[in-house]
Parts: sequence; C-alpha cells; structure tokens
Amino acid sequence: MTRPRVFACRELPGAPWDAVRAVAELRVWEGEDAVPREVLLGEAARCEGLVVTLVDRIDAELLGAAPRLRVVSTCSVGVDHIDVAAAAARGVRVGNTPGVLTEATADLAFALLLAAARRIPEAERFVREGRWQKSWEPALLLGRELAGATLGIVGLGEIGQAMARRAAGFGMRVVGWTRSGREVAGVESVGAFDALLARADVVSVHVARTPETLGLIGARELARMKRGALLVNTARGGIVDERALCAALASGQLGGAALDVFATEPLPLDSPLLAAPNLVVVPHIGSATHATRARMAELCVRNLLAGLRGEELPRAVSALGSR
Ligand code: DGY
Repeated sequence: MTRPRVFACRELPGAPWDAVRAVAELRVWEGEDAVPREVLLGEAARCEGLVVTLVDRIDAELLGAAPRLRVVSTCSVGVDHIDVAAAAARGVRVGNTPGVLTEATADLAFALLLAAARRIPEAERFVREGRWQKSWEPALLLGRELAGATLGIVGLGEIGQAMARRAAGFGMRVVGWTRSGREVAGVESVGAFDALLARADVVSVHVARTPETLGLIGARELARMKRGALLVNTARGGIVDERALCAALASGQLGGAALDVFATEPLPLDSPLLAAPNLVVVPHIGSATHATRARMAELCVRNLLAGLRGEELPRAVSALGSR
C-alpha cells in the first residue's frame, strides 16, 4: 500500500516528525521564509496531508488543486488563513491548536499592557541613548497605574479569560464584551460594545479575525474610548484600523497602544505606525515560548495523524468554529 504524503510548510520547534515519518512520506520546507505559493500549490496537488502556519493561505484555489488532500493541520489557533467552508465542502479536515497557547499569549498581552502603561520601551531607549544625564527626577517618564483601573476585554474566549485572571491579580476591574453576550466569572459583562469602550482605561483585543471583526476598532470606536486610554492587540491585524490608530495616538485621544499583530506582516519599515507616538510594537510573538511552541507542534502533529487515518481530529475546526 502506498504511504500518504505530507508536506510541512515550516520546521516547527519540537515537532515529533518521527511519528509522521513512521506512517507517511514527509517533506519539511527548509527555506528561510514562508513557502512560495507555487511550491505550496504543487505540494498540495500530490499530498494527503498539509502542515501549515498562519502565513500559508489555504483557499478555494489551493483546495481545488488538491484532489488527494485529507487533512490540513495548522500550527496556530487562528484559522483566518484557511477557507474552512471550502475545505469542509471537499471533505478535508482542518485542525488547529487552541488551549495550548492560552497562557503564553495572555502573558504577552499583559506584558504589552504593562509596557504601554509604564512606558518601558521609551524608558529603555532613554537610558541606552545616553539621555539619562540628571539625577533622579520626580517627573521623569510618568506612567499609569493599573490597580483600580478598568480593563475592557474584547472577546472572552480562553485567551480573553486568561487576560482577565492576570488583570484581577493586579487589582484591575475587568469588564468584557463578546458578540454572543456570553457571561464569564470574574468579568462584568457590559452588554453593548460601546459601553465597554466608554468604561475601559485599557482595551485589550482577543477576538478571531473574521469578516465581522475586520475593522471592529476604527475611528468611531477609538473616539468613543476614554481620552488617554490604552489599547492592546495580540489577536490579529486588521481588527484595529491602523490608520485610525495612528491618528488617535497623534491627537492624544489614545494615551498609548501596544501591538503584536499587524494588517501586513512583517510590518513594512515605512509603516506610519513606526512614527506614531506612544506605540509599542513586537513581531507577532504572542505564543513564542519554548514550551508553548513545542505543545503547538505536538498538537498539530496529532491533528495531522488523526486526519491521515480518517479519524476525528483532537482539535477540529468546522465552519462554525473550533471544538
Ligand atoms: C495563533 O496561534 O493564531 C497565533 O497568532 C500564533 O501563535
């Protein structure tokens, strides 16, 4: 019997490839950057399984050119790069990696919150650039206090809830909003999205990128936030309108922001974001810890193997969301 073929778009730290090689012919892309589209199309045409990351577009064109494909396993919780409905229509199973990256991503979101509130990158530059010339100054680099401030969480999935736990530990009040109106222990539900914007001293975004959440926070929403409030986004680029964000930072409507994700990644060097005041930027590292990336790779391989066997995936994504 011929063994199934699997193409992995990236080397994944800690991936148990031996388990894949035991049952399939595996090729792992060894290029330094994402696999070129034409290579991916060619591999998809001959493979039963694909291991992808959030930069590999699995759309109707690719699925249409992949007659043998049984499973697409993405090493990410986000699935906005995959046309899940088109995959389902062709009987291709899709798996993702929720759960295992929750705490690491919430850690990064909270780190960004602290960095923006206490102006840490700015303070670090101040020292390194030789500007720390005077003795201790009472008014140097004053920031915000978190205790007693209100954190508004947009999206109360696993990561939003983990963010709420961290905020409670810092003495913050936590209010939350979800499209479904779901109630979560320890989070005061505000009902309307605008009510969250009006109440929060810091807004943190934790929703998936979908057609409904694209541009969810634009000029109108930023204008409804408290003057001087902070904004953190570790979810996906495109949910916050970057042009509107630059304007809100420049006018002082927002006191600061911190972003891990961008509409275009890598962030172009001529992006107006890089000239915006009080903005902290990091390169999409929400889940980037050794332990989390190894857990993601392991779950990704388990999803793949189940799909090759024609079994239900441990973490399957359907057109209705992940399970
Ligand atoms: C995801 O999993 O979707 C993140 O963006 C990368 O960990």
